[in-house]
Amino acid sequence: MAIGAPAALRQNVPVPIPVILDVDTGVDDALALLFAASHPELDLVAVSCVAGNASLPLVVDNTLRVLHAVGADHVPVAAGAQRPLIEPARDAGHVHGGDGLAGIQLPPAERAAEPEVAVEFLRRTILAHPEPVTLVTLAPQTNIALLLRTYPEVTENIARVVFMGGAAGAGNATAVAEFNVWHDPEAAAIVLDSGVPLYMYGLDVFERVSVPQEVALELVASADPVSSLVGQLVNHRIRDRDGAESVYLGHIGDAGAVCSIVAPDALRTEHLPVRVELAGYGRGQTIVDRRQFPGEDLFHGLADGWVDVEVALEIDDERIANLFLDTVTKRR
Ligand code: RIB
Ligand code: CA
Repeated sequence: MAIGAPAALRQNVPVPIPVILDVDTGVDDALALLFAASHPELDLVAVSCVAGNASLPLVVDNTLRVLHAVGADHVPVAAGAQRPLIEPARDAGHVHGGDGLAGIQLPPAERAAEPEVAVEFLRRTILAHPEPVTLVTLAPQTNIALLLRTYPEVTENIARVVFMGGAAGAGNATAVAEFNVWHDPEAAAIVLDSGVPLYMYGLDVFERVSVPQEVALELVASADPVSSLVGQLVNHRIRDRDGAESVYLGHIGDAGAVCSIVAPDALRTEHLPVRVELAGYGRGQTIVDRRQFPGEDLFHGLADGWVDVEVALEIDDERIANLFLDTVTKRR
């Protein structure tokens, strides 16, 4: 072993993977932050915030409070875009509540966000890191698109982008589009076009990982404040289709995308051509080409615009749910 190797290497412990999360905190973004701050194989280097589930000020405040709750005040947080590149600012209050955190009251963080805007902060942080970082986008990709267009050189020190977004099958925001991509389709198209290795954690797996309600309720009653927070977040209910009833889903949502980094073999993926639709009702759809042969595209000049993406198609949902729960309730 080389003299001076990191202590982790000398003890045969995997060197933690440096990750930067881009979030729109958000109930499930909060779960992702708690996991990323707790898993010993992850080094949560930084967090950037973007408007999405809630307004930017709410997202920043929620993010600071969640990191404070898990003892991660040392992780810097930067504020980014207040709206998508083209689309107007919207929110997902019907899912995450008007405050973005399902009304869960957390103590305020005893610090503010970084003085730099996210694009500047991300450029400096990524280029200064001693090894390539994994960029985990759990929100509309406005910040990342602006970063890539402003400072394309950052791709030299980005190992890959793991994005919660899109779907090979049905959407959620529309019949065919997933919320993060639908919220800012141009941003998603720019990220797809970046040349950086891409890993898509879409709705096909996102909606599969949930916690039984009895487990959520046990956690709510836990004396451990982080476990109780996890229980409250997972126990958050959403309105059903006609808005009459509240429904328990128990999804860990965005947290599953972060779990996939430390347990890649719990998912089945394929490298497939992907494109983002920018027009018509399908605007915001990630079209995933699962055909065995390229078909007529090839003969009618439609074969351009596809990007190779590692798409998660199946997941061992129980294993990921247990990984998540074990990590956030037992923390290192
Ligand atoms: O479609 C699900 C995604 O939209 C999640 O990231 C959720 O937090 C919202 O941002
Ligand atoms: Ca999110």
